[in-house]
Amino acid sequence: MLKWVMNRMPKTGDKNLSVMSVGEVAKARKFHESFPQYSVTPMADLSKMAEYLGLGAVKIKDESWRFGLNAFKVLGGSYSIARYIAEEIGVDVSELPYNVLKSEELKKKFGSATFFSATDGNHGRGVAWAANQLGQKAVIIMPRGSTQTRLNNILAENAKAWISDVNYDECVRQAAKLAEEENSKGGHGVVVQDTAWEGYEKIPAWIMQGYGTMASEAAEQFGGRPTHIFVQAGVGSLAGAMVGFFSNLYKDNPPVMVVVEAAAAACLYKGAVAGDGKPRIVEGDMDTIMAGLACGEPNITSWDILKNHVTCFISAEDPVAARGMRMLAAPLKGDAQVTSGESGAAPFGALASIMKCDDCQELRKALKLDRDSRVLLFSTEGDTDPERWQNIVWEAKER
Ligand SMILES: Cc1ncc(COP(=O)(O)O)c(C=O)c1O
Repeated sequence: MLKWVMNRMPKTGDKNLSVMSVGEVAKARKFHESFPQYSVTPMADLSKMAEYLGLGAVKIKDESWRFGLNAFKVLGGSYSIARYIAEEIGVDVSELPYNVLKSEELKKKFGSATFFSATDGNHGRGVAWAANQLGQKAVIIMPRGSTQTRLNNILAENAKAWISDVNYDECVRQAAKLAEEENSKGGHGVVVQDTAWEGYEKIPAWIMQGYGTMASEAAEQFGGRPTHIFVQAGVGSLAGAMVGFFSNLYKDNPPVMVVVEAAAAACLYKGAVAGDGKPRIVEGDMDTIMAGLACGEPNITSWDILKNHVTCFISAEDPVAARGMRMLAAPLKGDAQVTSGESGAAPFGALASIMKCDDCQELRKALKLDRDSRVLLFSTEGDTDPERWQNIVWEAKER
């Protein structure tokens, strides 16, 4: 069910860590706080669960409450669009809180643009939502196998969106091509993609800083320093953001950082197994219930942060995530309930497996997980596809 590898990759100059500096994250959080939809999402304290698993504390940030969108992703899309507009009109993003961004005056200054993106669902919904809020356009492409429910959520934000017949990484290339075509026709096309590649690094860095709002809230809510942080990864932007922020916050004594991927798309794990520090790619359909983690090409900005600061990379099969979803949905009496989707519950599922399964004793030891451990996790989505969530949690089907 779980494969794991301790990080023995060579360290680098760590040039990307500053992307997630405490100051940059504070700036992103201030921006998000200007939204009428903003509120700090809950941190569920699973103290009974911690006791059951043999840990000191287990706390999980519940992003199903984020902006009414059921996932954390909008934090990145909204902040990167604001940073882009700020740069285009030559002001600092601190001068563009929500009410200014929405104003007619700003529209006159900036004009209109179309934001292009590829998505498994959550990022595209966030971009479409932000564009719609600001009276701009969005075009969103989804990979083969995406569910109609997730597409409908994006269409409901006035975006042009469809399910294509290629995988996520190909959709990214299609979105970039469409933006280029828009520009060659004299339009204003902008790629807002939640992953970085050679030559496309600025917008993804802003997206990561946007995710920082979640990290900053979590740091306040957790109550002291977590000893361990478990975070899920698709392309690794989220993981790079969380690992980067907490490495900056606790420079002298960082928590043990663990990255959890879907086995079908475990590109970071694959890179860590290779061990030479170069990123690796996973190709094909990447068939997994963890739709948000079904990405096979790492974000290169994040990859550098992860190489320098992650302790262990885990590749998890679908039943690990399904078990996490069920355990969070039906907590021990006294603990809070968390509605956690397939990608949201994967790290908790992995933690529960590590603590309870006999085969994982060695890993438990290597990570020093015991009664003194205080673990922070992120449930990054709620039931973003309610039918699938019910199938897994209520009907005990795997998908
Ligand atoms: C709910 C959820 N969790 C985690 C992730 C992983 O984020 P990243 O692709 O930055 O690794 C995603 C990505 O879409 C997601 O939708």
